[in-house]
Amino acid sequence: MGSDKFLNFLVVLSGLLSCEAKRPNIVFIIADDLGWNDVSFHGSNQILTPNIDSLAYSGVSLGRYYSHAICTPSRAALLTGKYSHVVGMQGYPLVMSEDRGIPTCVTVLPEYLKKAGYSTNLVGKWHVGSSREEYLPTSRGFDSHFGHRSGYMDYYEYTYEETWSIGKVSGMTLFRNLTAAWDVKGYITDVYTEQATTIIKNHDTSTPLFLLVAHVAPHSGNEGSMLQAPPDLVRQLRYVESPERRIFAAMVKKLDDSVGDIVQALHNKNMLEDTIIVFVSDNGGMTTGVYNNYASNYPLRGIKMSPFEGGIRVTGLLWAANLNNTSHYWDGYMHVADWLPTLLSAANVPIPKDIDGIDHWKNINSDSASERTTMYEIDDYAGYASIIYGDYKLITGNVTKSFATYQGGNLTGIIGDSPPYGNALVESTVYNVLKSHDLTFDTKYECLRKKTTIKCDKPSAPICFPDKDTVCLYNIKEDPCETTELSAKHPDLVCEMSSLLRAEAARRMPRVKPTFRNPLSAPSRFNYTWDVWI
Ligand SMILES: *[C@@H]1O[C@H](CO)[C@@H](O)[C@H](O)[C@H]1NC(C)=O
Ligand SMILES: *[C@@H]1O[C@H](CO)[C@@H](O)[C@H](O)[C@H]1NC(C)=O
Ligand SMILES: *[C@@H]1O[C@H](CO)[C@@H](O)[C@H](O)[C@H]1NC(C)=O
Ligand SMILES: *[C@@H]1O[C@H](CO)[C@@H](O)[C@H](O)[C@H]1NC(C)=O
Ligand SMILES: *[C@@H]1O[C@H](CO)[C@@H](O)[C@H](O)[C@H]1NC(C)=O
Ligand SMILES: *[C@@H]1O[C@H](CO)[C@@H](O)[C@H](O)[C@H]1NC(C)=O
Repeated sequence: MGSDKFLNFLVVLSGLLSCEAKRPNIVFIIADDLGWNDVSFHGSNQILTPNIDSLAYSGVSLGRYYSHAICTPSRAALLTGKYSHVVGMQGYPLVMSEDRGIPTCVTVLPEYLKKAGYSTNLVGKWHVGSSREEYLPTSRGFDSHFGHRSGYMDYYEYTYEETWSIGKVSGMTLFRNLTAAWDVKGYITDVYTEQATTIIKNHDTSTPLFLLVAHVAPHSGNEGSMLQAPPDLVRQLRYVESPERRIFAAMVKKLDDSVGDIVQALHNKNMLEDTIIVFVSDNGGMTTGVYNNYASNYPLRGIKMSPFEGGIRVTGLLWAANLNNTSHYWDGYMHVADWLPTLLSAANVPIPKDIDGIDHWKNINSDSASERTTMYEIDDYAGYASIIYGDYKLITGNVTKSFATYQGGNLTGIIGDSPPYGNALVESTVYNVLKSHDLTFDTKYECLRKKTTIKCDKPSAPICFPDKDTVCLYNIKEDPCETTELSAKHPDLVCEMSSLLRAEAARRMPRVKPTFRNPLSAPSRFNYTWDVWI
């Protein structure tokens, strides 16, 4: 018996011995740079996301779900169950001309699941290391990868661009396992949806499925073509006042349709009732600067790449047909690193000890309080650090001011009326699939929607910006928009939180100043692709 076969045999045997129930399928969907105010279950009628909302109302919307402020760190925490600063993946996102990845000695989520008998598949973004083959998804527990290895790409050409001293450097970044996918055509969100639904359709249901769908959408494209959506769809959304946000809205609509198609495919394959579905954003929306996609986190303060709420308190929901005791809204703290233990717990797989994540499966399933009281955001590249501790958040160090203000409030304009929300819900694919399983939410949704809507007063005084001599303290439960600075009122708390933060910062694997733009990575050396270069 080969050692792999022997391992499989042991897994099967241990399953039989403990009389385990069949492990659930897990379909995990990540949006890229989707803002708090870009889904309609958070209260706005401007961009309707009825498929995503239906999952939230019928499952559990996670009202205080936190991620890291940037994509590479968030994905590293999701995969490892550790804070990104513990595995050296904090701060400024990975670029393709940089030799860095999640250290190969760290075990990642698909490896745990594969060991437990799952078929493991990644459709879409990786972005946690691709300079070496050992960093790639297929070397890290994924049976298959179809997608981009970079932070983002063109929605039609699948190219990714960097600016080097010699000028713009561009290459294709869409791969099928280890091979450049030159044959692919179409709008990338549709392409990924097709790939995801095909995996579901062809899945051998005698093994559980883990499918991670990490969309490009609604991240911006390359400079020069930042916002990309099919023109006929943009035209349908003419009621969105800002022309840029109208294109963004079409990008989000495609994402919402994708969620509908995936749920439909699970239903068609008779897998839905055995599947856990997660939908999250990787960080807050980017409303200004180089990757501006016209997302909005309003009324939360700050955007992607800042430790203010708009950067880290993001859209999150969990759905399963048999969730217990749920009021469909959980406002306990949950961090992106908590998915690893929570999903392993749901799958009845032993949880590793050396992680930062906390298992919330039982507490979500019994409407109980969260066991998480503390969360850290440490970026030694930009030079800021923050801690959430009970009701309070302390922010220290050097934040980029333009990322730390209130933005996106001026993007919410509607010309005339948007389509009625209630109709959009009951016409959505997900609603109708859930209806056929007797799992809808009919009259309850307005009340659930109110719970997830944040309203704040405009700040009356100048807002606090931390720097090397100033810290900012907020009560984020009473003041979710971080308007009222409290450090002078609670000096002892500032002291206590600062010392916790210092202790946590001491755990970090320091972020080396990256050596970007390594000429060995030049796409011209690899038939104009961003391929493995070491
Ligand atoms: C990747 O490789 C695996 C194993 O050889 C294969 O089953 C899978 O179909 C491949 N995936 C893609 C997207 O080609
Ligand atoms: C809900 O509770 C029932 C009965 O205790 C159990 O069989 C089922 O697995 C639970 N569901 C989840 C999602 O925990
Ligand atoms: C559901 O809630 C009841 C009452 O709080 C509790 O006794 C029961 O254990 C809960 N069920 C599950 C599966 O958590
Ligand atoms: C703070 O950030 C600014 C702009 O990002 C930078 O110029 C400055 O050197 C930084 N200061 C420290 C102490 O890191
Ligand atoms: C919204 O306000 C910001 C300043 O906060 C400004 O830079 C931007 O151009 C405005 N956008 C629109 C669409 O008016
Ligand atoms: C090189 O790139 C072209 C597209 O520019 C593609 O058609 C061709 O198949 C690629 N060659 C190889 C060997 O991958």
